[in-house]
Amino acid sequence: MIRKAVLPVAGFGTRCLPASKAIPKEMITIVDKPVIQYVVEEAVAAGIKEIVLVTHSAKAAIENHFDHHFELEHQLEAKGKTELLEELRNIIPSDVSIISVRQEEAKGLGHAILCARSVIGDNDPFVVMLPDVLVDADGRTPNDLAGMIKAYDETGNAQIMVENVPQEVAYKYGIVSLEGDAPEAGRHTPINGMVEKPKSGKEPSTLAVIGRYLLPGSIFPLLAETKPGAGGEIQLTDAIDELRSSHPVEAYRMEGDTYDCGFALGYLEATISYAKRHKSLGQDFKEILKKYVD
Ligand code: G1P
Repeated sequence: MIRKAVLPVAGFGTRCLPASKAIPKEMITIVDKPVIQYVVEEAVAAGIKEIVLVTHSAKAAIENHFDHHFELEHQLEAKGKTELLEELRNIIPSDVSIISVRQEEAKGLGHAILCARSVIGDNDPFVVMLPDVLVDADGRTPNDLAGMIKAYDETGNAQIMVENVPQEVAYKYGIVSLEGDAPEAGRHTPINGMVEKPKSGKEPSTLAVIGRYLLPGSIFPLLAETKPGAGGEIQLTDAIDELRSSHPVEAYRMEGDTYDCGFALGYLEATISYAKRHKSLGQDFKEILKKYVD
């Protein structure tokens, strides 16, 4: 059973400036919730009970969002706004805990994950979820993360969620190479290599790492030894490529859609997609949208 997830949220989000100057990029709203809440809901839906935020002093708003707000709750109670009160109280189910650790220096994704080592330990498998990326299950259960956890439970192999991307954008991602054919959506297959941000034209495939990983605790000693790679940063991809020599690693091909909420167009697309399906706003939003279709 996988119960722990690590969410690296310490980054400054330079791709989201100026929106992310005074609020964390993870707190930017998609329809009526901050991006990070969608990611936490995805984790909870897949059975995660312990969420470890690897964070920074400038990003306390994220921890506050998942904490109780006594004055606000008291006021909503006094005014009889029970529905809203319940919604706020249920942002996190009572059996799910949020733990924060700090990343003191921005040394890359691999370094951020290493900061969670003392909380996760070297013996337990865990999930990594990059909060820039929304994985949209569109109501499907189990979601892709749960599918990946099932694949791990069945095989004991590390799982890396991938999707096919156009060849001309492969250089932006971690890219896997496979032993055989690309798996169908919802299936998984062994990888025989992984490279972070390959040079254009040198990518081993067009299957990109989209920001969901299921890793054994034995990744931590490898991360501790990983030297700076692409962009001068300690890359999780490099440690996973090293992991392959001691632990099988598979690519899990996702079924849902993804939105990269780390930049404005991604937010806008996610907003439209989620707003159209929103249970109370969806119909009115679709009407409004008609005015703007050229
Ligand atoms: C990170 C990972 C990369 C992955 C990407 C997905 O890169 O290092 O392997 O493909 O997230 O969004 P970043 O976007 O932080 O440069």
